[in-house]
This record gives sequence, structure tokens and C-alpha cells, in this order.
Amino acid sequence: KTVNVILSGGVGSRLWPLSRKAKPKQYLSIFEDKSLIGLTIERNSPLVDELMFVGSMQNIDQADAYLSGYNFRKITEATPRNTAAAIAFAAFSYAKDDILLVTPSDHLIDAGDSYAATIATGINFAKQNLICTFGIAPTHPETGYGYIEYSGNDVLSFREKPNKDTAIGFLKIGNFLWNSGIFCFKAGVYLSELKKYEPELYIAARLAFEKAEDGKLEYDLSMKIPSKSIDYAVMERSDKIKVIPSDFTWYDMGSFESLYDYLRRSGKKVDEHGNMVIGNSLKHFAFCGLKNTIFVETEDAILILNKDNAQDVKHIYEALEKDK
Ligand code: GDD
Ligand code: MG
Repeated sequence: KTVNVILSGGVGSRLWPLSRKAKPKQYLSIFEDKSLIGLTIERNSPLVDELMFVGSMQNIDQADAYLSGYNFRKITEATPRNTAAAIAFAAFSYAKDDILLVTPSDHLIDAGDSYAATIATGINFAKQNLICTFGIAPTHPETGYGYIEYSGNDVLSFREKPNKDTAIGFLKIGNFLWNSGIFCFKAGVYLSELKKYEPELYIAARLAFEKAEDGKLEYDLSMKIPSKSIDYAVMERSDKIKVIPSDFTWYDMGSFESLYDYLRRSGKKVDEHGNMVIGNSLKHFAFCGLKNTIFVETEDAILILNKDNAQDVKHIYEALEKDK
């Protein structure tokens, strides 16, 4: 059986005020009236037998509307424990030879024919007990992504979130790809690698999973699981990794910078000085003497930012959370 594991854990703090805890970014209908969750399911469901949604109790119910009509299961997390654990919960739910296609729920991908073909190649690697990643040719020295040093399909090294200078070096050397955050492997292969490199995490995740009722994890047992991403826990260490250099169009919609980039490239909403308005209001907007300014309006908040400061938005969110 082949399963699409859909991860939906983050709050999307860098997209405040669009993205809220109760309605995170993946549920917003901002992409031609579709949400990232809806697009993820549309893209992956034809490639698999079943969907497995792993997400936060704060908003997982919103997934139901998208999942209905499909063969699906859900795991509800009491608190986020990062991706190594979230993927382990999914893997514990299946037989060891079942194939998991793990995808984030907040990416925008142009799912032309090349996507389906690329994933099919990944599934073939997974059948050979390998861990497959999908690599994207980098366009700038982004520090928020993982980098894969590669030769053909072989991974020479996996480097999660390098600093700026290191990233610039990677681009200069040339044989590096961004890790797309999409993975494909057998449930049993992932679990045995996790057990090998993070035995404590494996055991704590297993215990929390076994005590879950109705796929709902309990808070106290969840808090005992070390919070680590799959990238640091497994990808940087395993020797079973293969990469497929991929050429589908890929955006991690993590920040206003990527949203801006996407909207600009699709020829929308950005004026000749690089200014953009995001909001649903019918008001007339005008910019005067401003450049690269993003104006975001929601029902109860306004954010005005320079697009180069897109990464700082999470600090606003954190400050607001603290004041609560
Ligand atoms: N269910 C669940 N529980 N999902 C989670 C959790 C959790 O505790 N933590 C994160 N996720 C989900 C996020 O919602 C997102 O869809 C995905 O897992 C990846 O997590 P991010 O927090 O967005 O990771 P990242 O962007 O910093 O880095 C990862 O993605 C990059 C590409 O977008 C890494 O895999 C990088 O190597 C990669 O380049
Ligand atoms: Mg991300």
C-alpha cells in the first residue's frame, strides 16, 4: 500500500496576520481560491492508495472537509513534537513494507506531469529499502532550507539549514540541491533508521502512539518525546538516502517573501515599484513613494513590511503570543 502522509503542524508565524493558530496558512484560500491543503490533496491523492493526515488538535478538524471522499486516517497531536515524531506516528500506523510519501501541507507546487513522474521514481527507490528525497535547484543562498550535496542520485552529504556564508559556498560549488521536504520510504525503513540514530525519540514516540486513543495523542506522553526534525534526526546521518533532482516548480509558502515571489511571477498584484497588497477588502489602495512594501490587511489586523524583512514577522507573532 502507498500512503501520502500529510504533515500539518506549524502555526505559520511568519505569515501573521494572515495565518493564525486557529486558521493556519495551509487553510487559507489565497491561491486562486484554493488552499494549500486542498492543493496538496489534489496533487497527491491520484498517486497513492490512502491519505494519512498528521496535525495539531487546534485545527485538525478543518482538514475533514478536504479529506472527505478519500480513503483517509488522521493522527491528532496534543502538542507539536516536530517532524521526526510526527512521521513516526504515521509509520507506526502501517505495515513495515507500506510506502509512505511524506509531504508538507504548506507548499505550492506546479504539479504538471513532471511531478507525478518524479514521485513514481521516488516510490521505486523506496521499494528498494532506500530513503528518497526530492531536490530542487537552488536559486539563492536561502538559510531556511536543507541542502543536499549530490552526484546523480547519490547523496554525498545532507546539510540542514546552513548559515549564509556556507549557503553561498554551496551555490558556488554547484552540486547542491535544496531539500524539498518531500520524502518517500517504507514505514519500516524509516522506523529502523530512527531507532538506530535516535533511540530515545523512537521509544518515546512509540509509547505515546500506543497509548493514543482514536488516533489522539496524549499531552504528557507527547511532551516526553524529544523535539527534532527528520532532517537532523535521520537525513543528516542515514546512509540509505537517495535524491531525485526534480524540476517541478516549488515554493515553500513559509513567509511573505515566498508569497510575494509567487504572486510576482504569476504576474499578479505587484506594482512597478514592487509594492503589493494582500487582503480581501474592497477598498482602493495606493502607494506613494514606497518601494518593495507589502501591505497586509485582515479583519482585525494590519501589517506593513518591507519585503526584505519578511523573516522578522515571526517576532511580531511571538511578542503578541507573549502578551496574551
Ligand atoms: N504534524 C506535524 N507535527 N507537522 C509538523 C510538525 C509537528 O510537530 N512540525 C512541523 N510540521 C510540518 C510543517 O507544518 C511543515 O508542513 C513540515 O512539517 C515541515 O516543517 P517546517 O517547520 O516547515 O520545516 P522547515 O521549513 O523549517 O524545513 C523543512 O522543509 C524545508 C523545505 O520547505 C526541512 O525539511 C528542510 O530541509 C527543507 O528544505
Ligand atoms: Mg517549511
